[in-house]
Amino acid sequence: MVASQARWSEDDQRAFILRQEKRWGPLDESEIRRILESARAWFLTGASRLFLCRGCCCGTERVQAVDHDVLVAHVDSERRRLGLALAVDLTDCQGPCDEGNNATVRVGSACRTYRKLNDPAAMTRMLEEIREGYSRSLPT
Ligand code: FES
Repeated sequence: MVASQARWSEDDQRAFILRQEKRWGPLDESEIRRILESARAWFLTGASRLFLCRGCCCGTERVQAVDHDVLVAHVDSERRRLGLALAVDLTDCQGPCDEGNNATVRVGSACRTYRKLNDPAAMTRMLEEIREGYSRSLPT
């Protein structure tokens, strides 16, 4: 499991726009800005959120892992066991497919990406790190 600061590169932004155009057709700059604003508003909703990637690779047979549905259920049960008031969302591709399964955590204005979350133990370590690192700012 690798943790790093999450920040969109220009390549990430281009990939995001291409995915939106695949879904909605050609988009002009104002439509792209509106989609990005809507995504930012959703991203910042609530005190804390865990975004589990379930895009083109994470959560599919392209990423070797135990049963992906089991991993999602494990996150939910561990989140409750650890007393983390953390909203969990499944998202489209977050970018670094080669290092999936990936997740991004946002607590307040702090944001971190976790990679290679391919077994329940890795998911538990991530959640324990979140609890330890953010225990003062996470509501319980
Ligand atoms: S599908 Fe997860 S990073 Fe691309």
